[in-house]
Amino acid sequence: MARARALARLMTTTTRGVATTTTTTTTTTTARRRAMPMPMTMTMGRETVTRARASASRRAVREFTSLGRRGWDATSANATTNAATNAATNATTNAATNAATNAAMASAATRAMVRRMRSTMATTAQATPSMTLVVGGERATRRVAWWLGGGCAWVFSMVVLGGMTRLTRSGLSMTDWKFEYEHPPLTDEDWAKEFEKYKQSPEYKKSNLGMTVEEYKFIYWMEYGHRMWGRVLGLYFVAPLAYFASKGYVTSALAKRLGVFFVLGAAQGMIGWWMVKSGLEEQEFSYDVPRVSPYRLATHLTGAFTIYTGMLWTTLNVIYPVSPSQSAGASKALIDATKRLHRVVHPLAGLIGVTAISGAYVAGMDAGRAYNTFPLMGGRWIPEEYLDQWEQKGWRNFFENTAAVQFDHRVLALTTLASVSAVWLGHRNSTALHPRTRMLLHALLATTAGQVTLGVTTLLHHVPVELGSAHQAGALTLFTVVLALMHSLRGPKRLRI
Ligand code: HEM
Repeated sequence: MARARALARLMTTTTRGVATTTTTTTTTTTARRRAMPMPMTMTMGRETVTRARASASRRAVREFTSLGRRGWDATSANATTNAATNAATNATTNAATNAATNAAMASAATRAMVRRMRSTMATTAQATPSMTLVVGGERATRRVAWWLGGGCAWVFSMVVLGGMTRLTRSGLSMTDWKFEYEHPPLTDEDWAKEFEKYKQSPEYKKSNLGMTVEEYKFIYWMEYGHRMWGRVLGLYFVAPLAYFASKGYVTSALAKRLGVFFVLGAAQGMIGWWMVKSGLEEQEFSYDVPRVSPYRLATHLTGAFTIYTGMLWTTLNVIYPVSPSQSAGASKALIDATKRLHRVVHPLAGLIGVTAISGAYVAGMDAGRAYNTFPLMGGRWIPEEYLDQWEQKGWRNFFENTAAVQFDHRVLALTTLASVSAVWLGHRNSTALHPRTRMLLHALLATTAGQVTLGVTTLLHHVPVELGSAHQAGALTLFTVVLALMHSLRGPKRLRI
């Protein structure tokens, strides 16, 4: 009985100390229950091994417990935490190996129990409750990951479709908005009615006088497609979620996140209409061509990037619940290299985000159709008109003055390229980094360079629809890469007991 208790204690302590998942807890509880009646057949030698094993494990776990809570920023806490994790795992794994040797001489029941214990330990070294979003094993995880990944691709396509709607000047074609399904005009009579409403809009009066109903149908379908694609995305989420929840795959943590995305998606639809409305009203800005408020366009684009970020992060959490430096076998060199890169990649991601938002002002002001030269603007490094509206508008000069908006976007983009290059140069030879992290670091440089080249080409060609859309897709691709890189650099602070 004493031997049984020692072994049971070991397993319980290990599970609590290293990490716990819902699945693991169940496995451990079962294993513990099964462990109780077992070791009547054990020898004294094995009892000693078991006790030593339990005490080594408890020591490691105590060390781990005291260090694990200090987090990523505490000096070398992560290294020690992992060392402790490793120690715990090694102690228990070594013990398991010893036990396996002994068990070879013992009964079949003992061998089975050791196998269960090993599998419990392997699992506990892999995931923590804070990271576990899906339950039900590998198949469930794979299915949910595909579904969430599909959702990310859907949001990506929404952003590109939205850009195409704007670039084809279709965004102001629908003059009202409903939260639920909008019925498109189907009969000639319906089309005539809809077109009549559009004729009252500033866009028709200022830019599209004489447009035919056939031409109107094209811009209408573009905007309608964008809106419906967003609504169907809501269904894409709700239907499989109900199915996966009924199968018991979805944890409450995942359900909460999905609920937040759903609310953000609905809010994004409303922001979209708030943006379109600004283009249907008499203009606050005296543009030649009526367009939506650049502030509202930037808000809409930021909303899209926010939803995309949350969904991508969640998908990555499902696919990779444990980052390289959180895994049980992480070496100190890997942890240190990860920490060094982690420190610089976060501000870099912020810079990429700010550059993208400044791009929304370029798009919102139609600033890409002026100063179509590079690197000079109007023959100068800094355009003469840069501060033209400063006296009149103050800080709004930087958001409403075409020259300032475009110049700032260029400067931010080139600063991003320079910063990414510097980070790449500093870390490209860091062989201690995980291969996935290194691959993403190289991809970051390639996508940034590609995006800058695409931006310049778009500008030099006066923003044709294809290049403008490709540039927008490029911004989201760059964002995807930097997010994936950040995700692979997560530190051990997420390890919780
Ligand atoms: C890291 C580099 C860059 C990023 C992340 C970026 C991002 C963006 C984003 C998100 C937009 C808004 C797209 C839209 O809402 O349709 C945009 C627009 C634009 N960007 Fe960039 N950009 C970068 C580099 C550049 C460069 C180097 C140039 C040229 C010098 C440039 C020129 C433009 C132009 C002309 C637009 C307006 C396109 C339109 O009207 O649709 N970009 N950029």
